[in-house]
Amino acid sequence: MKIVDVLNQVGTPCYVYDAELIRNRYEKLQSHLPQGRSRFFFAMKSLSNLAILRLMRELKAGLDTVSLFEIQMGLQAGFEPSDIIFTPNVVHFSEIEAAVELGVGVNIENLNNLEKFGKKFGNDYPVCIRFNPNIAIEDQSSKKWYEESKFGIPYKKLGLILDLVQRYNIHVEGLHIHSSHVIMNHDILIKSAELMFQAALKFDDVRYVDFGGGLNPKPRKQEATDIVTIGKVLTTMLENYQHPSGEELQLRFEPGRFLVGEAGTLYVEATVLKKNGNVQFAGVDSGFNHLIRPMFYDSHHKIENMSNPEGRIEEYTVVGNLCEVDNFAKSRHIPTIREGDILAIHDAGAYGFSMSSQYNSRPRPTEVLLDGLEAFVIRERENFDDMVRNQVYRKINV
Ligand code: LLP
Repeated sequence: MKIVDVLNQVGTPCYVYDAELIRNRYEKLQSHLPQGRSRFFFAMKSLSNLAILRLMRELKAGLDTVSLFEIQMGLQAGFEPSDIIFTPNVVHFSEIEAAVELGVGVNIENLNNLEKFGKKFGNDYPVCIRFNPNIAIEDQSSKKWYEESKFGIPYKKLGLILDLVQRYNIHVEGLHIHSSHVIMNHDILIKSAELMFQAALKFDDVRYVDFGGGLNPKPRKQEATDIVTIGKVLTTMLENYQHPSGEELQLRFEPGRFLVGEAGTLYVEATVLKKNGNVQFAGVDSGFNHLIRPMFYDSHHKIENMSNPEGRIEEYTVVGNLCEVDNFAKSRHIPTIREGDILAIHDAGAYGFSMSSQYNSRPRPTEVLLDGLEAFVIRERENFDDMVRNQVYRKINV
């Protein structure tokens, strides 16, 4: 199947995801991280299309959700509540109660909600506690990241957690940490595992440790997370772990970008070529309303000219059509771009569509899933009705 044939039918801008690549990524995780002892919960905030969720369910992944609507989408995609975990941040306690009502796994990351949880549910509903491990490794970047982080309960407050657990007889079934992909590497993961394994011994019923996401297949400034070594070290650590109750630990991971980052490409069309002094701009029919990562995080996405792959290499600043600074890439070497050429912006599967907006009143793009020789539209391009839906003029009786 040729991607141009797909694009001829659905037009650009368009996100295209490769199901086979997602399956390969999932198998890679399964084969390298301790087999039979690890479970993977897809972080759906990275790519929340129902078709992708169904694919994850086929793979027997669980789902990591951060809002009640994400939980609802997971249920709609066919996940059992027991395969869904809810790891929200600074939410109103009513969201936690709603999640309990839905029967999903609940993660608590602050002492206030833990206390409320204890008062309300006591030992009736299990809970997982998220820590901020404050791990420092040599370059100190992680220390700074954790020190400035709003996530989790500082590890040094373990005593306070244990007091609450005892006072309300809370059933703690899991311990959780998440290290952002910005700092995540082999050392961080191993250090956090050591810390969590030690903490698990202080609770009666902990049956899993959840390492969150952050596994980074393709970072620009550091090395890719070495899951082979991590897998070996974790296996040994599991073998050496001995809780007085005899309970064995399961490992959990919440990968987002590792599974879908490289599997997604944003296809755009070059609309205008122009120069300002020495800067050569290639303007395209998309912008940070569709892929905000380059502007927001300075992320690097390889850009390929699908229409002129053998062309002479030139230097371009690839820009979107929003009415403000809107760069996909600066000073990038790409084969000559002509009006009408199709450009592929790679590694856009994670936090691409899911962070898109209607800014400048432009519709969000089409999404397509390729599966072997078949292609499926999994989300239609928005239209004008989508733009004005929910805009009302309803009197509020005050
Ligand atoms: N688990 C928790 C608790 C998280 O906070 C996150 C991501 C994940 C799992 C998944 O992380 P991943 O494996 O995808 O790195 N919008 C940013 C990334 C924000 C990540 C937020 N948390 C980006 O485009 O890079």
